[in-house]
Amino acid sequence: MKILAIESSCDETAAAVVEDGRKILSSFIHSQVAEHEKYGGVVPEIASRRHTENIIPVTEGALKKAGVSLNEIDAVAVTAAPGLIGALLVGVNFAKGLAAAAEKPLIPVHHIRGHVAANYLAHPELEPPFLCLIVSGGHSHIVEVLDYTRYRVIGKTRDDAAGEAFDKAARALGFPYPGGIYLDSIAREGDPDAVKLPRPRVEGAPYDFSFSGLKTAVVNLLHNAAQKGQELCVQDVAASFQKAVVDLLCEKLVAASEEFGKKKIVVAGGVSANSGLRDRLEEERLRRGWELYLPPLSLCGDNAAMIGAQAYYEFLAGNLADMSLNGCASMPVDYTKENAALYF
Ligand code: KG4
Ligand code: ZN
Repeated sequence: MKILAIESSCDETAAAVVEDGRKILSSFIHSQVAEHEKYGGVVPEIASRRHTENIIPVTEGALKKAGVSLNEIDAVAVTAAPGLIGALLVGVNFAKGLAAAAEKPLIPVHHIRGHVAANYLAHPELEPPFLCLIVSGGHSHIVEVLDYTRYRVIGKTRDDAAGEAFDKAARALGFPYPGGIYLDSIAREGDPDAVKLPRPRVEGAPYDFSFSGLKTAVVNLLHNAAQKGQELCVQDVAASFQKAVVDLLCEKLVAASEEFGKKKIVVAGGVSANSGLRDRLEEERLRRGWELYLPPLSLCGDNAAMIGAQAYYEFLAGNLADMSLNGCASMPVDYTKENAALYF
């Protein structure tokens, strides 16, 4: 089954053709990062306008590269939640138009489930159930993926997402948006034990994250040093911050894997590209005998191939939409077939 997938939830306009949820026939991504960089973050209005301009060429490119016409596609999939609402609506309406014109089924996909499904593209043998750490720009979750379309949330962030914390700390260190990748590369040159930073925990919720205190600690550290005219080693601050985030993520993931007796571990989302996190997870794999799956770097960030992968399983579960499909800015990842209509 060939699915044409569209992704426009944030600042990437993407289209892909994916076969049977596992094989990428084509994947096109138009990133707007350079344009949003000068504002220090994504400007929703600009993102929507650029999606409107780019969605047709990106989709045409994906079909052409896959060597299929719209008529040869079996279904159209689209990220319908969560994300910037104006940005989502561009993709949703475009996909509705395509599905109606070509008389194909329309499959709504939850963006975060798409990030998890990036692993199905890279690891043909991977099947649920598994324990999953999801770390993106907008979400930090530990979930149990019971089945391709059934999730159970075990823990989540109470404030900033992991990627958001990386970006805010990177900004305080003077890096452009999104700074996670810059912080990662500079951290490799620093001493992760040079700067003492807190490891905030949420009382009574052992699997929940809280990153805002950690980010504030870095901002205050830099501010105080500047006031005293002290020079801080940027590499050491970056390495220490990264270690603190990785410590918190891995500590909770390990605890959840032990409590729930899970050894099959999957990681998903933009922050899964972080080298410090990948190194630590590899150590945990060796120490604990985990079966560990990480997306390749090319599939960590936003793309439409992952949406096409998840869409296949949503299709098999009968999770289709009609022309009343709407975008939804915020939607829990553990929604069910029964309550999906509350959001889409
Ligand atoms: O999953 P994603 O592409 O978009 C969302 O769905 O949010 O994640 C983007 C986030 C950004 O915050 C970005 O800075 C972060 O992932 N990121 C990284 C790295 N690469 C991307 N954070 C830390 N280290 C990296 N190497
Ligand atoms: Zn994403």
